[in-house]
Amino acid sequence: MANLTGKKILLGVTGSIAAYKAAFLVRLLIKAGAEVQVLMTKAGGSFISPLTLSTLSKRPVHTDISSEESWNNHVEMGLWADAMVIAPLTASSLAKMACGISDNVIAATYLSARCPVFFAPAMDLDMWQHPATQENVRRLQSYGNHLIPVGHGELASGLVGEGRMAEPEEIVAMLSRFWEKEQSLAGKKVMITAGPTYEPIDPVRFIGNRSSGKMGIALADAAARRGAEVSLILGPSRLSPQEKRVQSIPVQTADEMYQAARKAFQDADIVILSAAVADYRPRETATQKIKKTGDTLQMELVKTPDIAAALGREKRTGQLLVGFALETENELANAQSKLEKKNFDLIVLNSLQDAGAGFNYDTNKITILGKDNKIRKFELKSKQAVAEDILDEVEALRGGGDS
Ligand code: C5P
Repeated sequence: MANLTGKKILLGVTGSIAAYKAAFLVRLLIKAGAEVQVLMTKAGGSFISPLTLSTLSKRPVHTDISSEESWNNHVEMGLWADAMVIAPLTASSLAKMACGISDNVIAATYLSARCPVFFAPAMDLDMWQHPATQENVRRLQSYGNHLIPVGHGELASGLVGEGRMAEPEEIVAMLSRFWEKEQSLAGKKVMITAGPTYEPIDPVRFIGNRSSGKMGIALADAAARRGAEVSLILGPSRLSPQEKRVQSIPVQTADEMYQAARKAFQDADIVILSAAVADYRPRETATQKIKKTGDTLQMELVKTPDIAAALGREKRTGQLLVGFALETENELANAQSKLEKKNFDLIVLNSLQDAGAGFNYDTNKITILGKDNKIRKFELKSKQAVAEDILDEVEALRGGGDS
């Protein structure tokens, strides 16, 4: 049962057909104990009447920054709220928020809000998939805002695909979980490895892989939001964590990652190894750029340290070790054997065979295996939502005292 007792929520409703769901959303928020102040764009008002929402929320709905009688102080509203939720969020309002345009009451309040912001996009399949929309979603997320993932199904246009606004029940549950989890890892030290490693061949070339670091960064941010002190040992990545409580330790090579991990491991309570570490590195790194001479080039590679296996051997009672496995065949059996060999408590399996899962995608589809042959399969979700699932499993294991 969702509990939002005493939470002050600003609900922004923009002009999408999904605006009719805002009525259900307001009812559910109020039922869960929240105070709700509705803000609407003019287009939002064409889809659902402000009177409906003001009756349900028991507060006047603001549709403009100022009216003939009064000025709605968006700065004050932004400070009043414990959370701002924009549902539904159209492609156009999304773009405004991503660019900092403040020409309506929702966009202006968004810019003033200091509270966590959740946004639930709703639009047609092609609008959702357009690179401009996807870039805007990424931008909002990079500002620390929380995406409420779109659903898959029939759209108002008759097309079938992604773009449906999340159901009001899911939105309320996500908000409730957000506050529930807020401090569930307070006082805990979490160490995470993420990203690829680059093993230098010469001053300009390296052996690397396609890992973006997204999954590990999402885990670091999620653990920090739950109150943990997080050390993120991050291989070369374009991305970086959003949460201030994440301490990033940048590394390049497997050897550097190994050294940093050994150090942070000493006082870590929870260790999550999501990095795609190179298994081999060139024996020698040329000091000058290697010239194109013969038709073939031989290079001797040597094994890099297996960080996971080393930490698995050193693991103390009370420390919890979580590994990842990216498999292309015999997935479950390979993941199971890695779990045992590396002394993991949990292993997260993601398969390259699942569309939308793995390297560089914003989504992932995972299976979590535990020591007791427990297998939990999850749906395709945003990497942020996957990070929450992984931490839920970790916390459940800690709660059970089985580490
Ligand atoms: O053996 P494999 O590379 O598939 O194992 C994957 C797991 O081991 C991941 O959790 C990965 O981060 C970790 N690993 C590591 N050091 C290595 C290789 C893998 O920590 N050198």
